[in-house]
Amino acid sequence: MATLPSSTQIVPDAPQIPRHIAVIMDGNGRWAKNRFMPRIAGHKRGVESVRNAVRACAERGVQYLTLFAFSSENWRRPKDEVKFLMQLFMHVLEAEVSKLHRNNIRLKIVGDLSQFDERLVQLVREAEEKTKNNQQLTLTVAANYGGRWDILQALNHLVRAHPEKAGNYSESDFAPYLSMQDAPEPDLFIRTGGEKRVSNFLLWQLAYTELYFTDMLWPDFDAAALDTAIASYQQRERRYGRTSEQLQGDVPQRGMAGG
Ligand code: IPE
Ligand code: IPE
Ligand code: MG
Repeated sequence: MATLPSSTQIVPDAPQIPRHIAVIMDGNGRWAKNRFMPRIAGHKRGVESVRNAVRACAERGVQYLTLFAFSSENWRRPKDEVKFLMQLFMHVLEAEVSKLHRNNIRLKIVGDLSQFDERLVQLVREAEEKTKNNQQLTLTVAANYGGRWDILQALNHLVRAHPEKAGNYSESDFAPYLSMQDAPEPDLFIRTGGEKRVSNFLLWQLAYTELYFTDMLWPDFDAAALDTAIASYQQRERRYGRTSEQLQGDVPQRGMAGG
């Protein structure tokens, strides 16, 4: 398995347009409640924001967009809401995959699919297969995903694959088993809905991601809101442990001629 550069192993470059944006799409329920509508109306409306975000990211040259659709803890919600979310997911897959494919978008689903209905799992596999060579944007949907689940499943796979190395695993031994292994670490994390927490999303991968929180509710999140988030990202100084002076080139770097 190929390993991508890790922000803790090397100092990565900091692209102007984030290469990878990861989003916690939060606030659907409150959006509906504000309108005296049932929570599920907010989820339905949230799909429109997903379409907008995919289009806007593709237009702006973002290469990876990862959306948190259902967390490993969302099973704790009322049965009816969970059921609705599953049906919506299935419906959206059925309805949108051809369009994604036409737009040269690769679709990936990450998460523990073992608890999903067989038909849904099959739809997921077909969609991934159909779009696997598309190059415009990789859209990853995290469904029944948890950052802790991901780290543990990777660890278990690694131990099974390389029992002889147990006790001496390195980051580069481990990282290829994570479910986001083929994507660079996110440059920008966006959470809508006002909460300032990570809610068990990409725990490993967010090590040096720039975090952006907005009170805007997910169904209201549009291309202009994405641009605001990207503009905030562009103001950040990505030091990766170094000093500001080092970034500005004031201090000679160790190993440089005359330094
Ligand atoms: C996010 O919106 C969507 C999912 C978690 C599936 P919420 O449903 O969490 O909306 P709020 O946070 O209750 O407003
Ligand atoms: C996080 O939102 C999960 C998704 C958006 C899928 P939640 O609404 O479930 O997060 P908490 O419970 O407020 O932390
Ligand atoms: Mg929420």
